[in-house]
Amino acid sequence: MANVKRVFTVNGEPFFPVGGQSMNQAGQSASEAEAAFKAVKLLHGNTLEIPVYWEQVEPEEGRFDFSIVDALLASARRYGMKLVLLWFATWKNGNMDYTPTWVKTSPQRFRRVASPTGRAVWVLSSHCRANTEADQRAFTALCAHLKAVDSTERTVIALQIENEPGILGSDRDYGPEAQATFESPVPDELVSKMKAAGKGPVFEVWQEAGGKEGGSWPELFGWAGGELMTAWSIATTIDGLAEAGKAVYGLPMYINVWLARHAWAMAGEDYPSGGAVPKVLDIYKWFTPHVDLIAPDIYLPDNKGYESMCRAYARDDNPLFVPESGGRAASNAWLMFRAIADYNAIGYHGFGVEWYMAEDGSVRPEAQMVVDSFRCVSAVIPLLLKYQGTGKIHAVVQEENMESQELDLDGYVGQVQFDGRPRWFPPAGDTAERRGRGLVIQASQHEFYLVGSHYQLVLHPKLPPHVARDMSLVRDPLLRRSSQYLSVDEGHFDEKGEFVVDHQRNGDEIRFAAPWVEPDIGVLRVVMCD
Ligand code: DGJ
Repeated sequence: MANVKRVFTVNGEPFFPVGGQSMNQAGQSASEAEAAFKAVKLLHGNTLEIPVYWEQVEPEEGRFDFSIVDALLASARRYGMKLVLLWFATWKNGNMDYTPTWVKTSPQRFRRVASPTGRAVWVLSSHCRANTEADQRAFTALCAHLKAVDSTERTVIALQIENEPGILGSDRDYGPEAQATFESPVPDELVSKMKAAGKGPVFEVWQEAGGKEGGSWPELFGWAGGELMTAWSIATTIDGLAEAGKAVYGLPMYINVWLARHAWAMAGEDYPSGGAVPKVLDIYKWFTPHVDLIAPDIYLPDNKGYESMCRAYARDDNPLFVPESGGRAASNAWLMFRAIADYNAIGYHGFGVEWYMAEDGSVRPEAQMVVDSFRCVSAVIPLLLKYQGTGKIHAVVQEENMESQELDLDGYVGQVQFDGRPRWFPPAGDTAERRGRGLVIQASQHEFYLVGSHYQLVLHPKLPPHVARDMSLVRDPLLRRSSQYLSVDEGHFDEKGEFVVDHQRNGDEIRFAAPWVEPDIGVLRVVMCD
């Protein structure tokens, strides 16, 4: 399997960020941010994603005030946490809400996207040089400030440039500069990239429109020309920010994406046009060499939709990183395990993390399932860093009506049984909260690490049929008397990544119940005797 490209590091070592993203307004003061830090602690996370607003740090043109950044750094260090700062600037959810007043009130200078009828849309145009230059000046000032105050401690591990960029309110900019670009030849570089790729959604749109070697955007891409030009224009604009920012301070930088929910979704209406949705992702990858990755905000709760997004963004040239997921809904509490095991996600965050916490600081009951899942992921970070990409990490995901799941392990068949509690506990009801989920990690042929909720794992050695028949009790789902364990231990990983045993299971705990997991037991290590 392919090597996992670890974009995030701490002290030069690979780092797996897990935690939450704050609500949008939490970045305005240390006191507003406090709840977000607490909530990330509650889910055993190591990283908070929190916005920095252009309008706040450059209230007057050229006058920068990064005191809020300093305050966030101080809080993060107090909590022993890392930060991903989200640069809310030209784009925030496909509009310009977080641009400074001096930008908003000078539309002649900082031109906006024009709709087909010439109406000014509430989005800055990526075709207006003044916009790009102003944003870039502010972004590089932020990078310079971080270099000055954080290059030793490195509390900030990455920057998200903009937020869900794109245009809401028009499929493209119809203003004079954009129109001129639309009618000009598509850059040769794009044509050669498409030719070299020979496949993919951008290539296909080009072929469907006739596959011409040269011509304007509508000539090369037909009806999709507006969205593709916008994608190219926004991608190159943001890459310029990344290049300038990295020249000052070399932090990892990424772009997040508001995903289209269906194939028939309308660009500019259902999602921001020109954002890095799967159909234009190739354009982003070709034109953002200074951006480390493109990250989908996955709020899709259904397995099929969720996995299709993992598949689209987990590419050899783009490790999967989920900066936002459906934290509010119970959704994704199972599927995050799939993203991590099957798509090698290099980090995972839930949006609106403050919501997970009740007023008294405990976990809000409706959020328990999500919090538990994050806790389980956090518990095995050393193993994720070691085994992702090797095929040794398996997701346990109980889909609706599923009674068991089979894992093809090295030397064993893993039979995952749901409702994973020892039989002297009362039977569980069939509610979503009780759906089995987690990870099974095979560290060596006979050594397994388990985390998760509501499942048991029966390990059947892969034996020749005549031997297996002879050992029929091994396969008995209820009495696993013949299972030969060397040890079954509950424990945790210490700071050096070493497994520490907290409780040894034996006797009834292993003879009348197959190894089971719950989030609060930590990590279960099962070592079979050969
Ligand atoms: C995605 C955005 O990136 C966030 O800032 C926030 O607006 C969420 N959507 C809300 O669901």
